[in-house]
Amino acid sequence: MRKVLLCLLSIILLVSCAKKTEEGEKPLLILRYGDNQPDYYPTTRAARYFSQRVEEKSDGRIKIEVYGDGRLGNENDVFRMVEYGGVDFMRLSIGTLSAFYPEFQILQLPYLFSSSAHMWNVLDGKVGDYFLSILNGDSIGLSWFDAGARSVYTIEKIDTLSDLQDKVIRTQENDKMEEIFSLLGASTIQIPYGSVYSELMRKTIDGAENNFPSYMYTGHSDVARFVFLDEHMRLPEIMVMSRKAMEEIKAIDEDLLDVIKEAAIEAGIYERQLWNEEEEKAKRDAIIKGCIVTYPSYDEIEKWKEAVSPIYDTLDAESMKIVEEIKSLDE
Ligand code: GCU
Repeated sequence: MRKVLLCLLSIILLVSCAKKTEEGEKPLLILRYGDNQPDYYPTTRAARYFSQRVEEKSDGRIKIEVYGDGRLGNENDVFRMVEYGGVDFMRLSIGTLSAFYPEFQILQLPYLFSSSAHMWNVLDGKVGDYFLSILNGDSIGLSWFDAGARSVYTIEKIDTLSDLQDKVIRTQENDKMEEIFSLLGASTIQIPYGSVYSELMRKTIDGAENNFPSYMYTGHSDVARFVFLDEHMRLPEIMVMSRKAMEEIKAIDEDLLDVIKEAAIEAGIYERQLWNEEEEKAKRDAIIKGCIVTYPSYDEIEKWKEAVSPIYDTLDAESMKIVEEIKSLDE
């Protein structure tokens, strides 16, 4: 009887092991992940961490190849590819996503979050889960990444809001973003991230706006040396998976979807740590390099807030409820 039991046990073990790949064996699924940031940037490093965690947690059954530096294309195009299943995963800015899914415009409202802690309080809670859950069509929302606060930087120095009037400022490819900058009095133009440097060089734009690591990693800081620390927006980023990839993973083993979700959350937490270090470092490096960072006064920022406030009047009742909930979560 004992022998029979032992034999049965070994059969069960053999069957369950057969599902997993042996060391050196080929993975069952190879998937592609895109990021438009350079390979050493926090989000791309977190993408590689995600890939490593998925490989470990799936016992090598899933391999995720990370393509940084916009190698798969610009953010808008890669998102389109994710939506039809040509790319499996990506990390993208909410400023890009909200052009496709307007519900996300709420998260790009100017001066919505009062601090990084406030933003994470929101994203780590019910509201963050709600936004992740609405991305559940051709692409699936997996986890949040940090991207700090965005400020304006220009080729010629600006000291006040009136200096911004009629300056040509690049915005992300998103009409709401243009609206915000029009309210600030700027002339706006939508340009893909990867083309901003050459447009600054050609002086077809007077400036752009972004966080410090982007400003430094892209070389924008070589041309637009003046940063006006208006911190008009904290724009989170999101890791998404295509529905096609989800179906392929599910076909191997439904439990692997939990592995993906867990690894995505771990990668988000890892990115947040990297972000905190990199954001400070990029700011320091900008100053060391000779870029001029202007810290506006409280009264000056009040003027910026006042100028963009009409954007809040355009919200419908449901969006306003979410905004109120977000505001109530301020630490
Ligand atoms: C940030 C973000 C990018 C985005 C860029 C932009 O740098 O990380 O994903 O493309 O902003 O301004 O377009």
